[in-house]
Amino acid sequence: RHILLINGPNLNLLGTREPQIYGSTTLHDIEQASHTLAFSLGLRLTTFQSNHEGAIIDRIHQAAGFFPSPPSPSPSSAATTTEAGVGPGDKVSAIIINPGAYTHTSIGIRDALLGTGIPFVEVHVSNVHAREAFRHHSYLSDKAVAVICGLGPFGYSAALEFLGRHMKF
Ligand code: DQA
Repeated sequence: RHILLINGPNLNLLGTREPQIYGSTTLHDIEQASHTLAFSLGLRLTTFQSNHEGAIIDRIHQAAGFFPSPPSPSPSSAATTTEAGVGPGDKVSAIIINPGAYTHTSIGIRDALLGTGIPFVEVHVSNVHAREAFRHHSYLSDKAVAVICGLGPFGYSAALEFLGRHMKF
């Protein structure tokens, strides 16, 4: 059982970005904690962060085995995977995604998730419904297995634990 954790734009700034909204936990902390939890749940976890919509769409395609292996990202590339050896055919069972601002804009990410048919949980660190009106609509929520917002970094753990304990893959 293989889970892909995707974080979208600006989430690489977690920890320093608007700490009154997003707290002081870094993305690295979140990914480390997720790896530890995944291991204890018997899940394989791959993490990916990108500030680029197309890179996120490509990664979703790859997770379904639909995309030819892209060249390895150079160390300076904005897109990173933390697990070596991920390639086409290395399919994932479910995706946990925090699409950042693309939540509110991206029909393309919605279509990639629907087109691959991979079940996904949508996570937001902040309670988007307590914020600006433009954050109240998500292009993903009506198709998500579950939506978690406002739990801070714990939202990622909650998503992982739910998938590990309750999803039948
Ligand atoms: C976010 C909420 C989005 O509205 C915002 O654009 C983000 C982060 C969250 O995790 O709370 O970048 O997805």
